[in-house]
Amino acid sequence: MPLLPELATPCLLVDVDRLDANIATMAELARRLGVALRPHAKTHKSVEIARRQLAAGAHGLTVATVSEAEIFAAAGCDDLFIAYPLYATAALGERLSRLATRSRLAVGVDSAEGARALATHLAPAARSVVRLLVEVDSGQHRTGVLPEEAGPLADQVMHCGLQVAGAFTFPGHSYSPDVRGGAAVDEAAALERAAASMRECGTTPEVLSGGSTPSAADSRGEVLDELRPGVYVFGDAQQWELGVTGPEDIALSCLATVVSHAGGRLVLDSGSKALGADRAPWASGYGRLLDHPGARIVAISEHHAVVEWPAHEPHPEIGDRVRVVPNHACNAVNLADSLTAHQAGRIRERWPVSARGANT
Ligand SMILES: Cc1ncc(COP(=O)(O)O)c(C=O)c1O
Repeated sequence: MPLLPELATPCLLVDVDRLDANIATMAELARRLGVALRPHAKTHKSVEIARRQLAAGAHGLTVATVSEAEIFAAAGCDDLFIAYPLYATAALGERLSRLATRSRLAVGVDSAEGARALATHLAPAARSVVRLLVEVDSGQHRTGVLPEEAGPLADQVMHCGLQVAGAFTFPGHSYSPDVRGGAAVDEAAALERAAASMRECGTTPEVLSGGSTPSAADSRGEVLDELRPGVYVFGDAQQWELGVTGPEDIALSCLATVVSHAGGRLVLDSGSKALGADRAPWASGYGRLLDHPGARIVAISEHHAVVEWPAHEPHPEIGDRVRVVPNHACNAVNLADSLTAHQAGRIRERWPVSARGANT
């Protein structure tokens, strides 16, 4: 009997017990570190999961886009941080101004141009309540000013008539087998330097925000006020291969069917349109099999995943089902309409991916 035959494949499964355990573990870590937890909701895009995180003690949510913020605000989340250096137009400013009437709202900024656009397009009432966090680069080299530039930028933001609440960074260089713990050290150093720079310019930062899933356990609670991990809620093949989590704790998988043995290959129906196409240079493939740790997805196309099966293990037959762990949970969820929540081998509920397509 194939696994969960009532479901059409490929589809995303969420193991509710593991999900709740991951939520509780991160909440406990944040409590131990003495920092507020603001999980990144782009990972799950799910109102149901956000509610579980908030019920477990999260102080608010992080999001990446205004449309994600709108969806979580409409669902009742009243404390949101758009951790992204937004560039506001008139239309975006209007939406942000509306959001600021229903939710405590913080937004990232990493340029004077970005600050000026926000100042121009936010309604006067929003200008005095939207809190800006200056983004600093702690080693990922994506967005963010140098930490020592945080004070001068905060000054420029305030000269535009906006409120500066502090600084944030994403230590994304933690996504490497050699840098994981070091990224948390870089994060704390960058935020400390940013805070000093802001104080030199006459601003006292209220909040220093950091966090990524690989670096979370090494976070410096004595420096950070807030942690924003996202992927921890599920875990994924990247976290497994980085040693952050093990297969026994991974809550998200993609149920897939073996569709072909042609040419002696083993092919699943979970292609890049179900799993995403992420593959870090250090990843062993395009995803892992939850119940077969020796298997590797060695090639992927839109609707096919080619699996290299361990020589000593019997091959699954055509029609059999397996659970695939995507390399990057956020991108797999972004492709799905719903998540099938299961517990003790039984399907419990279907959770909509509430912020499906909310990427603007
Ligand atoms: C700005 C920001 N904060 C927090 C996170 C969450 O980190 P992770 O995905 O490692 O859980 C991300 C992830 O990309 C991010 O870009």
